[in-house]
Amino acid sequence: EVFQEISGLLKKEKLLAHILGIQRVIIVPGNLEDDSNVKQLIGKEAVSFLIEHAKNDDFVAITGGSTVAALADFLAPVKSVSSLTFIAARGSIGDELELQANTLVSQFASKSHANSKTLYLPEHLSQTAYETMKKEPVIKEIIDLYEEVHFVIHGIGNAKEMAVRRHTDNEIIAILRDKQAVGEAFGYYFDINGEIIYQINSIGIQLEQVKNSRNIIAVAGGANKAKAIRAYFNIAAKHTVLITDEGAANAILEG
Ligand code: G3H
Repeated sequence: EVFQEISGLLKKEKLLAHILGIQRVIIVPGNLEDDSNVKQLIGKEAVSFLIEHAKNDDFVAITGGSTVAALADFLAPVKSVSSLTFIAARGSIGDELELQANTLVSQFASKSHANSKTLYLPEHLSQTAYETMKKEPVIKEIIDLYEEVHFVIHGIGNAKEMAVRRHTDNEIIAILRDKQAVGEAFGYYFDINGEIIYQINSIGIQLEQVKNSRNIIAVAGGANKAKAIRAYFNIAAKHTVLITDEGAANAILEG
């Protein structure tokens, strides 16, 4: 029975990869909306992938969110990860202090005895302030690093849920609603076709820089993210590896 279950998941992984147009999908059993342990399983798979594919001294950009946070428990000072540098993929957003990239970067680095680069910057900067900040040496250093990251690990969010979680202004909520945003990843909100509708005005890694990264891991599960995941893979790099759960996978395959 266990074997049947495994081979069922393997088939689903292949099918889903085909539908999304990518080479590799990893599906963990369960639906994280019903069982919080499922998120941990996603985190565990992501760490295994990182250990297997990271090269010495790689720069690893990570975003925030609870799914990326789930990697933390599985990071340990093994040789292949202690030479890494974890980099915050973006400045602070919303009130998500515990789940923001900076917090996770420090946590990941301390768990794996690796290096870290954080980016403490307020959101909602005026255009002038934004231009000035970008020239500040400590900030410029990180922005320049985004050009040469080797690994990106990021979440994918349900647009509505993310907008609420981040206490987004009504004006922007209206744009997201009118243009039918379904998903969000590293500050970009997009519709079902992957058209970018809105980008959060905060300093962070850009889509092109993510795509240029040698390895990209997207971690997202739960049936309510099915549309967001589906949409994101219209713009994602083909070498992105999706680590998801059965909840999202079934919803995409059935939808
Ligand atoms: O950008 C997407 C969000 O960071 C996803 O957050 O993993 O807590 O759902 P989550």
